[in-house]
Amino acid sequence: MPGLLDISPVIPVLVLHDHEAAVPVVEALRDGGVRLAEVTLRTPAAIEAIRRIAAEVEDVVVGAGTVVAPHQAAAAAKAGAEFLVTPGSSDQVYQACRDTGLPILPGAATVSEAMSLAERGHSELKFFPAEAAGGPAYLRAIAGPLPGLRFCPTGGITAESASGYLRLPNVACVGGSWLTPAEAVAAGDFARITALTRDFLTACRAGAT
Ligand code: 3PG
Repeated sequence: MPGLLDISPVIPVLVLHDHEAAVPVVEALRDGGVRLAEVTLRTPAAIEAIRRIAAEVEDVVVGAGTVVAPHQAAAAAKAGAEFLVTPGSSDQVYQACRDTGLPILPGAATVSEAMSLAERGHSELKFFPAEAAGGPAYLRAIAGPLPGLRFCPTGGITAESASGYLRLPNVACVGGSWLTPAEAVAAGDFARITALTRDFLTACRAGAT
């Protein structure tokens, strides 16, 4: 697997309430050009959703997000998650993620958190919650003092605001749920997910995003 932040300009964040939607949603993302999905462990359906994606969709890298309790890391790994994402980095959750042996994208919102994760060997971090924690201006301000770190800002980002992040030298990609709107997932409108994904990638290539 290439570096997690180099697979795609966007890590789609999925909140799935029905595991039956898991495979069609990631296939819709793939059809739009994104072969990567982070399934958040915020719903009872999440682990089964990861299991189905891992078992049934070969050409998409699936990971687990919102890992906030130690037991979730092992459960996600057992279901077939290929990476783990945490919103922050408590010692116990961090160690449980390490114990799986999977790549981790740990979350940081402050310079001290970013420095602590760098001391643990991480050069790629999630910046969360991106919009509320300071947005592109914050990341631009820390690029000088923390030149070795690359970020995936996530939290409150839209197709429109993504460009403000993606043009920064310390941003490798952005994360967010806007490609998989809850109403489209609930209605089974997978064509909309494909269209949103394709439009976003087209904008990225054109330099508009
Ligand atoms: C996450 O879990 O990474 C974020 O909550 C996703 O944020 P968004 O829904 O605002 O894109």
